[in-house]
Amino acid sequence: MHKIVVIGTGYVGLVSGVCFSEVGHNVVCIDHDKQKISSLQKGKIPIYEPGLDEMVHKNVAHKRLSFSTNLADHINDADEIIIAVGTPTSDDNGSTDLNFVYSVVDEIINHLSKEIIVIIKSTVPPGTCADVQKKFDSSELHHKCHIVSNPEFLREGNAIKDFMSPDRVIVGCDDANEDKIRSLYADHINRGIKFIYTNLITAELIKYSANTFLAAKVAFINEISSISERIDADIVSLKSGIGSDSRIGYKFLEPGPGFGGSCFPKDIKSLIHFSEEIHSNNALIKSIIDSNQNRIDEIARNVEEFVGSGGTLCFLGLTYKANTDDVRTSPAIGVIQKILSLNKYSIRCYDPLGMKSAQKILGDKVTYCKDIYDAALDASIVVVITEWDEFKKIDAEKLKATMKISNIYDVRNIINIDKFQKSGFQVKVIGSKNV
Ligand code: UDX
Repeated sequence: MHKIVVIGTGYVGLVSGVCFSEVGHNVVCIDHDKQKISSLQKGKIPIYEPGLDEMVHKNVAHKRLSFSTNLADHINDADEIIIAVGTPTSDDNGSTDLNFVYSVVDEIINHLSKEIIVIIKSTVPPGTCADVQKKFDSSELHHKCHIVSNPEFLREGNAIKDFMSPDRVIVGCDDANEDKIRSLYADHINRGIKFIYTNLITAELIKYSANTFLAAKVAFINEISSISERIDADIVSLKSGIGSDSRIGYKFLEPGPGFGGSCFPKDIKSLIHFSEEIHSNNALIKSIIDSNQNRIDEIARNVEEFVGSGGTLCFLGLTYKANTDDVRTSPAIGVIQKILSLNKYSIRCYDPLGMKSAQKILGDKVTYCKDIYDAALDASIVVVITEWDEFKKIDAEKLKATMKISNIYDVRNIINIDKFQKSGFQVKVIGSKNV
């Protein structure tokens, strides 16, 4: 059993801390945000993540998991400190704001009185871990701090499984610290999970490369989807035609309204900025951002062309993907904003979990509705833009009864086309000609 202090209770910090307690370690999760810690102490989880609630309650009850605002109280009991604070994009030039990381480093220097391993799970530009190591080495500390880079690849909505059973765990560290990391991850190792040990800077770059590559795959299939629509090719057969080549693979080939979320856009911008600083070729990487923006514009244009002038539009979905309440850089919001800027339409929308956070961005410019059918009231089109299970089961007849004109545009290819056509809908899906 290791004693672990996790600093930062965002997605990565909270899920990692809770999962480490689940495998038997003793974990204290620390955050400066008093309100957040106080809710966690009361058993209230600040993020939506299936399975996390139960896991928190279980491990708190077993006294393996606790929450605190005070690093000084716990730091010298710990075997490892995990840094999992946010690394947002700076507003100006896409560079990464490392203030949270460095203020944690200062705090550790102020309170630490023992040799320790400091694991950086926050996504940081290549070279940051080495800089942090230098900072510790040149500080007044009497004991050595060993920096380890251990990036996370958690997907929202799937984070517990991604932590417990990842395709691989990336560890950047000196050979001397590998055994301690093996002991920390003994449960993973015993279950045969693959570990890749490398140096600090490679581990940091792996994180950016993985997210950028996945985003490129999504941007690519969206462009191919757009080509398919124009020539009456079929995206579904196309996906299996290319995905069955094992060099390409099926995953991340679902066309949609573009990628969003808190990681892909931020990490790509950060990699662009970093590559520019070191004068490295980045034409392909840069084009991913443009391609994604073009996709959002294209979907908005398609809605406008489909529906014609004026009227009420119904949007089903506000979050950037299903099974999350997160609307950060959501393409659904991007499309809605683009359409609102035309000043031609009124918009009604519904999302199972994203309404509250969407309201913070869209304010009163749209009408928030209680369910699918309420959102479709008097609408000239329903746009299915997030792939929630609920939207796969829409009752076509009931929808038609509430709408003004029976048009449906499925931007995720999840509806049963036949059913809607039989009910008299004009159906448009992505990646195939209008059906
Ligand atoms: C991502 C990475 O997958 C994870 O490893 C990382 O560390 C954090 O960022 P997440 O943002 O939770 O995770 O979402 P993910 O499931 O990867 O999807 C990202 C975006 O791509 C979403 O907007 C999603 O709708 C879109 N997407 C994904 C597609 O449009 N098509 C696909 O085939 C896959």
